Amino acid sequence: MTTVIKSPAEWRKLRNGKLKNKTLGFVPTMGALHDGHLTLARKSKRENNITLVSIFVNPTQFNDKKDLENYPRILREDLESLDAAGVDYLFYPSYKSLYADNYRYRVCENEISKILCGAFRPGHFDGVLTVVLKLLNIAGADKAYFGEKDYQQYLLIRDMARAFFLTTKIISCPTVREKNGLALSSRNRRLSETEYALAPEFSRSLRRGATAAQARITLEKLGFAVDYVEDRFGRRFGAAKLGKVRLIDNVRR
Ligand code: PAJ
Repeated sequence: MTTVIKSPAEWRKLRNGKLKNKTLGFVPTMGALHDGHLTLARKSKRENNITLVSIFVNPTQFNDKKDLENYPRILREDLESLDAAGVDYLFYPSYKSLYADNYRYRVCENEISKILCGAFRPGHFDGVLTVVLKLLNIAGADKAYFGEKDYQQYLLIRDMARAFFLTTKIISCPTVREKNGLALSSRNRRLSETEYALAPEFSRSLRRGATAAQARITLEKLGFAVDYVEDRFGRRFGAAKLGKVRLIDNVRR
């Protein structure tokens, strides 16, 4: 059974007590778990004695209020998935317990957080980095796992860990996709049937476009409202809206 821990103090007590001599792997998430999240948890289980997953829909990283309100919250199903995957602990904190400072303190990065998704979601990565720093400090893990699906996020967290001498090793995992190429995402649940049928064209077009500009044109012709398609860090990154749902993806170049 997955044990649910609700407060940072409760977890710290366990980590410094009963779990003191165990290696710990940590997988931070916002819930609505799918096989992408569970693949990270399974890797953690292989590499550590104990695995901790967190679920916290972090309000400071949502620049769009509607997106925050509509974010899927399905704790009961999530707990079943964690149980089935053999995850030892779920950390499920309240806003108050994580943000006693009410976001007076925050982590700001001034280069990579300003491009790609950062250019379209002001303040988003400050919120991500702040909550991840809090979570990493609370967890006290040996390793923490992040998906390449959010490659820009991974780069920012990896570099933050170096910048602030964090002792947790930051590990990246390849994007988990449906057979048709669509990257698994909690937001896919909100696609209509027709949108869902069109969604695989997103990664296909990113992969096939001879240039980023060409991929953008293809996507726009198909009906995607494109935020950006850009080649950086040896990858092609894209973000586009399909109806109300914003999809992001990146593929190796
Ligand atoms: P969330 O979107 O729930 O994702 C949690 C972790 O799962 C992230 O590291 C993300 O990259 C990874 N992930 C999501 N979909 C994936 C897929 N299809 N394949 C592989 N990995 C995938 O990312 C966040 O939450 C938040 O920003 C968080 C880091 C928890 C901070 O609030």
